[in-house]
Order: sequence, then C-alpha cells, then structure tokens
Amino acid sequence: MRIYLRVMLRSTNLLSEASNILNNNNQGLYTMPAADLYPHQWLWDSCFIAIGLRHLDINRAQTEILSLLRGQWLNGMLPNIIFSTGDKYSADRELWRSWLSPNAPAKIATSGITQPPMVAEAVIKIGEKLSPLERRIWYRRVYPSLVKYHEWLYAERDPHQEGLVLSIHPWEIGMDNTPPWIAELSEHQLNSWIRTIKKLHLDNLISHMRRDTKNIPSFERFGTVELLAMFSIQWRLRRKAYDISRILDHSLFAIEDVAFNAILIRNNHHLQNIAKTIRIPLNQELIKRMKKTEHEFNRLWDTTTSQYHSRDFITHRLLKEESVATMLALYAGTVPINYAHALVRQLEDKNSFNTNCPVPSVPINSPWYKPLNYWQGPSWININWLIIEGLKNYGFIDQAKKLRLSTLSTISNSGCYEYYNPENSNGLGASNFSWTAALAIDLALCPIN
Ligand code: GLC
Repeated sequence: MRIYLRVMLRSTNLLSEASNILNNNNQGLYTMPAADLYPHQWLWDSCFIAIGLRHLDINRAQTEILSLLRGQWLNGMLPNIIFSTGDKYSADRELWRSWLSPNAPAKIATSGITQPPMVAEAVIKIGEKLSPLERRIWYRRVYPSLVKYHEWLYAERDPHQEGLVLSIHPWEIGMDNTPPWIAELSEHQLNSWIRTIKKLHLDNLISHMRRDTKNIPSFERFGTVELLAMFSIQWRLRRKAYDISRILDHSLFAIEDVAFNAILIRNNHHLQNIAKTIRIPLNQELIKRMKKTEHEFNRLWDTTTSQYHSRDFITHRLLKEESVATMLALYAGTVPINYAHALVRQLEDKNSFNTNCPVPSVPINSPWYKPLNYWQGPSWININWLIIEGLKNYGFIDQAKKLRLSTLSTISNSGCYEYYNPENSNGLGASNFSWTAALAIDLALCPIN
C-alpha cells in the first residue's frame, strides 16, 4: 500500500517528465531512442514508443508506425534501423550499405537485419484508442505491410519449415549481449584477428574510439572484444549483400531465439485479429506456419531448469545460459499453464528473478549475473512491460499489479533511463530514454483490474 501511494503521488511528475522526453526526442516522423547515442529510428523502440504516444497524441503514434513501414524492404523485411539523413550520419549508413541489396528501399538507408516483430502489438494498442470505424481504416492502412513482414519471417527465417524462426545477429533480438548469444559468439565468432587483439590487449586501445562509452561508464556496456565480434558478423552479412541463402550457407551462427519467437507468436495472434476485424482472410499457408510455431515453441522447454531456452538452428541444442527471455513465454500466451506456473515461481523467487527492482535480465543466481552490465543483469522497462502483459494473459493478476507498481517506482526513483540496477533502481546507460518514458506513461495510465 505504501509503495502504491508513493507511486501515485509521483506519477503526475513522471507523466510530465516522460512526455517532455518524448517531445525532445521527436524527429518529426519518428522518435529517436536517445539523443547522441541512438539518433536513428529503431524497430521495436518505435513500437514501444507508439504504445505510450497513443495516450498523448494518437496521430503521432500512427505516424511513428507508418514511418517504420516506409523502411520495409521489397522482400518484406522490416529493418531494425532506419538511418537519419544528413552528412553527420553518413558513416552509420556506410557501415550497413543497405543499397547493396536489390531488396532495400531506393531512397532510404537502413540496416540489413530485423528486430523482434512487435508491430502488430503497437497497431492493436493504437487501435484501442480509435472509434470502430477509425480502427478499421487504421488496420486497412497497415495490414498489407504487416502480412508481408510476417510472410517474410517465415519464408526467409524458417527455411526448413520447422516452426521456429531464426536470427542471425544479436542485434536482431534487441538484447545484444545476453548470455546465450554471447556464449555462442565466443564459441564461433572470434576470428583469428579478434583473438590476436584480445591476446595483445589492443581492445583497451580500441575502447577509446567507442561512441557508446564516451558518456556512459564502460562497465555498463559490453566488452570491446564482444563488440568487434558483432561487427565481424555484420561485415559478413554485408559481404553477402544481406542475401539469406548466401548467409546461411556455411554459417554456424543462427539461433532460434526464445524471446523473438515468443514475441512472434503473440504478434501472429494480433495479426489474425486485425485480419478478422477488417474481414480480409489471411492466407491458409501463413496460418499453418503460425500454428506450427506455437507447437514447436514448447520444444524449447527444458525440464532440468524449468525454463524456455533459445536453440541452435543447426544442431537443435538448447542454449542453457539463463536469461529473462524465458519469461517472455508468458507474453506468447500459448504455453501450458503448468509451465507458466513454474515461470511465475521463479519470478517470485528471491534467489532468481525477484530482486528489489525487478526484473533482472539475468537471474541473480546465474554465474553471468552482473547488475550493471547492459543485458547481463539490469532491469529493462520494455521487458517488464512484456512480462506484465504475459502475466495478464494467464490471469496472474496480483503478480501483474505488483510488477506494474515496482516498475513505476523504479522509474520515478531515478528518471527515464535505458536500464536500471535491479538491486537499487539506479538508472544506467542512456538518460532520457524514449521507450522507458513511453511505457511509463502507458503503465501509469492503464491500471490493472
Ligand atoms: C540497444 C538495445 C536495443 C535497442 C537499441 C536502440 O542496442 O539493446 O534493444 O533497440 O539500443 O534503443
């Protein structure tokens, strides 16, 4: 009760602080995640941002999504970054050179990979704020792009029609240095030149050139060796002109990520609901593939850890380094109830995910846990939002209410940061972070009954 009153008293301040951040980060067509560090448009960021913006300015929320869709590739892919224009950013655009692919849009520079498919969720949440007629108009406007995107995910990322879609870069899953991916990266992606840099400690020298550690302490970011490994995969993708058959040929690095697939399942449902509302039947083949994902997802369950884990695409080996990704199975909403109960028990366990300011991105009893380091310990507001939705899916209402309040309390204690120390709610990473501001607004204005 005490925490409830405190949060409610502060929420007026929080709302004005959050809407100021969204205004300051407004770039006209879209909202950048954070000034300096993230000056472009990111895919899942814009979805979370639109979910908050719908409470402030519905037209701006719609523009945020429409502007994402302008980056859609001819094959249907939605890229994780659409680059800002202007000379200042030419090096960022050059890094990706999306124009090497015949599928890239002609006049817009983008990355060549995607991010978790959250768009249908944002479309539905915006739809909730519209009248039935406006909602149908809105859905009709975005529907063709959404279908094309989900079809692309299956066509390119589930080449053997096994049900789960694969990801080819840690940046695609949005949790860049999460333990299962980093463990795989160290196993397969440390080329000889990166090993030499590591051996000679040249990474310390290179660290000085990093943009992300200019204003943020380096222990809050991931290591330079890991970053080089990420760039080396990205260069390989670019060399193959982002052509998936060339990329998968000879590559050992493809993962069926648990968070990405959980988000896909939920968004498949949203897409089906959108189709139903506007009475345009989705094609049967796509529906068949969507069903298969739900079925196959449960193969990611591991009885020894009582968690869902990502899986190596080639060997089907489960990657058992623990992370908060397992909790997104609740968000998928299609997993058996006894598995959902097992996850909630871990969410409530003080030795696992139940810290003072939950939900840590890695449980505290994992050897990987580092409370200050990016996706290896800190709590992230977008993940909390997804878990709250997941708890609601299964009727864990008390737990959802508790997490909503502790999330709002974390944000009001420290301000809108990129991530937080899960033990004391200190803000970490970039300040004035857009999705934190947007989701603070959404959580504050949507009490759970
Ligand atoms: C970081 C995050 C990623 C996010 C991006 C822009 O790379 O890991 O999830 O989309 O920043 O905010």
